[in-house]
Amino acid sequence: MNRRNFIKVLGAGGVVLAASPILVNSFADSNNLNYRPTHTYDDIRKTLLSYAMLSANPHNIQPWKVALPNKNQILLYVDPERLLPQTDPIHRQIHIGQGTFIEGLVIAASRFGIRADVDYFPQGEYGSQTLEDKPVAAITLIPNSEITADPLFGYLATRQSNKTPYSADELTVEQLQKIADVVSRDGLAMQFVDAKSDSSNMSQFLTQAMTIEEQQAARSLETISMFRFNDKEFATHRDGFGLAQNGVTGPKRWLAEKLFVTRENAESDPKRFGEEGIKHTQTVAQSAPHFGMLISNDNSRLTQVQCGRLYQHINLVTASLGLAQHPMSQILQEYSDMLPLQDEFKQHYGVKANQTVQMLFRLGKSELTEPSPRREVSDIVRA
Ligand SMILES: Cc1cc2nc3c(=O)[nH]c(=O)nc-3n(C[C@H](O)[C@H](O)[C@H](O)COP(=O)(O)O)c2cc1C
Repeated sequence: MNRRNFIKVLGAGGVVLAASPILVNSFADSNNLNYRPTHTYDDIRKTLLSYAMLSANPHNIQPWKVALPNKNQILLYVDPERLLPQTDPIHRQIHIGQGTFIEGLVIAASRFGIRADVDYFPQGEYGSQTLEDKPVAAITLIPNSEITADPLFGYLATRQSNKTPYSADELTVEQLQKIADVVSRDGLAMQFVDAKSDSSNMSQFLTQAMTIEEQQAARSLETISMFRFNDKEFATHRDGFGLAQNGVTGPKRWLAEKLFVTRENAESDPKRFGEEGIKHTQTVAQSAPHFGMLISNDNSRLTQVQCGRLYQHINLVTASLGLAQHPMSQILQEYSDMLPLQDEFKQHYGVKANQTVQMLFRLGKSELTEPSPRREVSDIVRA
């Protein structure tokens, strides 16, 4: 049977599948909930960490290390072995990923009647182009009977970055307002772009940015290194993302992973893998009714971390409203061949040259996808 016919047979549907329980099982998507930490620890710090680890982070690389110096304190560090030097050369996104983690932890603490006090960079803030082995935050846990659980706690486990195409349904003014209300700190702003009045400019910028990103094999290979090509890879690494997170599931996923989307193919021909990424970017960007931009006046490490907290908070709010949200970061990245397009993009949307778009994301409606995996709490605790 040639490949085309085989796809046709599968396309013919349920009859083939229903006939064979073994086949049905092999098509079934993995349950990545199994690849997430449990939340039941004797040590409350570990319970809180297990929730914080569910936060959004670049490429799901999970760039966190923690020290537990005493029973009321958590010190959070960047894991220097989990960076993305090709696409995030100044580690800005990695620091946003520290902020998302802190926000998840603070919200989880409220559920356990604990106030989590965050002291940023307690041993000094380092420059925004450097990385030092100093804590990003010291988090002190203070039990307080007056603390009430943040209602967003219930969304820590279901929040996700939804990478699938969105329906044309627009958000209401009230929904957009709830998102905008999250950003109330001086020096930070939320800006929305509505696809309807944008003449496809945003999707063109984003597609062009992905095209630039994929022009260098080293960058494509960095993404490929975080792509999980099958369940075995998910089970081994418990990080990254794969077809399921892009909404490819069931027989289609099974077939693709068996025949086309394999590590061997991608690593031997990263350009081809990149072309698929460009197509996917165009499809999903064109489908989005809205985009959001989180913009800062300065680009210090502290601001990056605080933007991460806000981004995670926004994502929890959208989860609570049943909305889909998805960062698209290529145009924001700092390697030299992206900068001319980034300048053009900023000018087009009225972002000042000295401002930084910290997060750019789609907003809309879509079905939930399979959750992305996480490692165990023990994997991030410093020895
Ligand atoms: C700073 C930052 C940048 C991100 N950039 C992208 C991106 O460009 N494209 C994308 O598909 N997802 C992006 N993401 C989403 C991550 O891939 C996602 O958070 C991670 O895979 C974990 O999945 P989850 O958010 O569904 O739990 C980004 C997330 C963060 C925090």
